[in-house]
Amino acid sequence: MSDVRWVSHPVASIGGTLTVPGDKSISHRALLLGAVADDPVLVRGFLAGEDCLATRHALEQMGVRVEDREDGSLAVHGAGPESLRASTSPLDLGNSGTGIRLLTGLLAGLPIDSVLTGDPSLRRRPMERVAVPLRAMGADIVTSDGCPPITIRSSGRLRAIDYTMPVASAQVKSAILLAALNADGQTTIRQPAVSRDHTERMLQTLGAEVSGDDTEIRLTGPCRLGGGEIGVPGDFSSAAFFVVAGLLAADHGLTIEGVGINPTRIGLLKMLQAMGGEIEIAAPRMLGQEPVADIRVRRSRLVGIDVEQAWVPLAIDEFPVFFVAAAAASGTTRVSGAAELRVKESDRIEAMASALETVGIRVETASDGMTVHGGQMTGGTLDSHGDHRIAMAMAVAGLISRSPITIGDTANAATSFPGFAAAAAGVGFNICEERGP
Ligand code: S3P
Repeated sequence: MSDVRWVSHPVASIGGTLTVPGDKSISHRALLLGAVADDPVLVRGFLAGEDCLATRHALEQMGVRVEDREDGSLAVHGAGPESLRASTSPLDLGNSGTGIRLLTGLLAGLPIDSVLTGDPSLRRRPMERVAVPLRAMGADIVTSDGCPPITIRSSGRLRAIDYTMPVASAQVKSAILLAALNADGQTTIRQPAVSRDHTERMLQTLGAEVSGDDTEIRLTGPCRLGGGEIGVPGDFSSAAFFVVAGLLAADHGLTIEGVGINPTRIGLLKMLQAMGGEIEIAAPRMLGQEPVADIRVRRSRLVGIDVEQAWVPLAIDEFPVFFVAAAAASGTTRVSGAAELRVKESDRIEAMASALETVGIRVETASDGMTVHGGQMTGGTLDSHGDHRIAMAMAVAGLISRSPITIGDTANAATSFPGFAAAAAGVGFNICEERGP
């Protein structure tokens, strides 16, 4: 397989204005909810990244019609949950944890059999966290030693549950909510901490009644969804690379426009502000049910912090680039209560510890976090471990390292941020793409 390497060279300064592609979590949900809605769901700003395209393809394999419209929007022509047909071949969700876990919830209560699988990274990720509550609702789900492939057999109508999640996970919460659409009675989900709430917001857009608060969510089934229009904001998790890049190197400021600032997603901003980062939220507005704004950042003197545990689930995807900010800060930054980082697209504690050590930063890892001692990054050659966010985070590190950072195995960036290298170059990164074995 040919590798795509990035060589990220140090630069004097970056700056300007950019937009980032649509939100991955919201794009997945628009496809999945649209697939079982009774009327068309029009999606503007859909993220055509590999993860969401895998989910789209899986739905198309089950007979869902998804139309690319001339104006760039996507129309998902759902015809109710009963219109989904069993696929003759396994559904391949590629690298996408969101795709496989949410689709498992959606299919759990439908009268069809399915097999869900993915790439080698996804086939190592834990799936019992969704299978356990779905089985309690009456679903027939078998995992392979806790991982994909997942086999779902038709098991008749589901029943509602009252479930306390052991970890704060929006994927688990969403899988249960999707199953609850086809279950009899009121499902209640209790979460130990707030997790992203895009599913709840979108269900409301499509006419479902979801009640509760930050830690307890209720939905009464069976529940039909209507059609509607979903605007997808720029993905905060993609903007995060430029937020940190701007704090490290934007002498005259950097603006990222049209970014989703849902409060369940922006823990990173709180963490960076606590470190002394100059961050301005400009022109806040609503895009449907989701808050959006322009984020302005400028080069700041960052100081290490102890990260509050309550921020962790609100920043769960941003830790790779947060660790880069910690490496660039003076003093020590400590993160704990973040064991979930070990079961993402890679083990993000080990992958980032090894990446930062390669460029001369001293770190100590723990089972649930990492301590980073800020310092001058040298340069070096490292591997992304096939993880898009490790690749992009270390490209940001290259801005201020003493010599270039070369990152191998970066093609995976296309799962969440197609065109990252070009977007980065557009605001002044000196990043070269090299292809070869
Ligand atoms: C996601 C939830 C998070 C996050 C993932 C996307 C979602 O996972 O890490 O990238 O779209 O619901 P968990 O909910 O399992 O923490």
